[in-house]
Amino acid sequence: MIERYIQFLGLDETLKLLEANERPLLPSIRINTLKISISEIKKRIEKKGNELEPIEWIPYGFNIVKESFNLGSSHEFLQGYYYLQNIASMLSAIILDPKPNDTVIDMCAAPGSKATHLAQLMENEGTLILIDKNKNRIPALEINLRRMGIINSIVLNMDAIYLSNLNTKGDKILLDAPCTGEGLIRQDKSRKKSKKMRDLEKMAVIQKKLLKAGLKGLKTGGKMLYCTCSIAPEENELVVNHVLNDLNNCSIVKISRDYGVKGLTEVFGINLLDDLKFSQRLYPHIHDTIGFYFCLIKKVD
Ligand SMILES: C[S@@+](CC[C@H](N)C(=O)[O-])C[C@H]1O[C@@H](n2cnc3c(N)ncnc32)[C@H](O)[C@@H]1O
Repeated sequence: MIERYIQFLGLDETLKLLEANERPLLPSIRINTLKISISEIKKRIEKKGNELEPIEWIPYGFNIVKESFNLGSSHEFLQGYYYLQNIASMLSAIILDPKPNDTVIDMCAAPGSKATHLAQLMENEGTLILIDKNKNRIPALEINLRRMGIINSIVLNMDAIYLSNLNTKGDKILLDAPCTGEGLIRQDKSRKKSKKMRDLEKMAVIQKKLLKAGLKGLKTGGKMLYCTCSIAPEENELVVNHVLNDLNNCSIVKISRDYGVKGLTEVFGINLLDDLKFSQRLYPHIHDTIGFYFCLIKKVD
């Protein structure tokens, strides 16, 4: 894995990445404005001895710079006034930018971090279709939907590769693809050694199938966000490049702000679609987040 990092990041940056992976990640929360105002919940959390710091770009997102007790066990948490969520994950819904009357499909939704955020941005209106293949993860999704007061969603336990069987098309589609999770090393050190090249290859096959199914299920003029908590090009640019090379009705869209650095347009000696420069990568050593990748795609006709 490290040899590969050196190939696409260079030695100096790889060392910085490995060092950053050893540093703990600040926990952060997303305030659920469907249920409470930012000022009210902030006051309540801070009164209990916690210190919050605003997150740039996310008016209802805060880093917890001092945590006086586990914020996942407070009354306010159980009442769904906030969600414990990392910044990279929060950016996904913001980039997809769903509107209240949209039909939005989250193809890999459990346990619902991004799904509950999509509902928040939709102001609990429109239609939010939440799919996950893993039956064991559905209860966590449903609990989070209930806790956060989401009433515009339906949950489907199915393989999103068969999205077209639903006979519904989305204005916005989120594919937070299953991946090796190698961007999560800061949160889970076991991932340093648990993932092998064959895992990357296996995931890439599934990711390509899901991305194709998602683009097929998108309305003309609709947008789809492909994202992963991985920095591996095999799970990111190479997946998008493979799928879009075969399609002439989809194009990569520039994300409205530079949250991360540009996606790769050349890697491991392979030239990729030039527009992949519009996709973005978040790195622990540059952005102080988990490792993450976003690519926004539009269906043009
Ligand atoms: C990265 S996690 C999703 C996290 C979720 N989006 C969130 O923000 O809480 C990937 C999810 O994809 C689901 N999954 C894997 N393959 C799938 C498939 N073919 N169809 C639908 N869901 C799938 C897994 O069960 C897992 O819950």
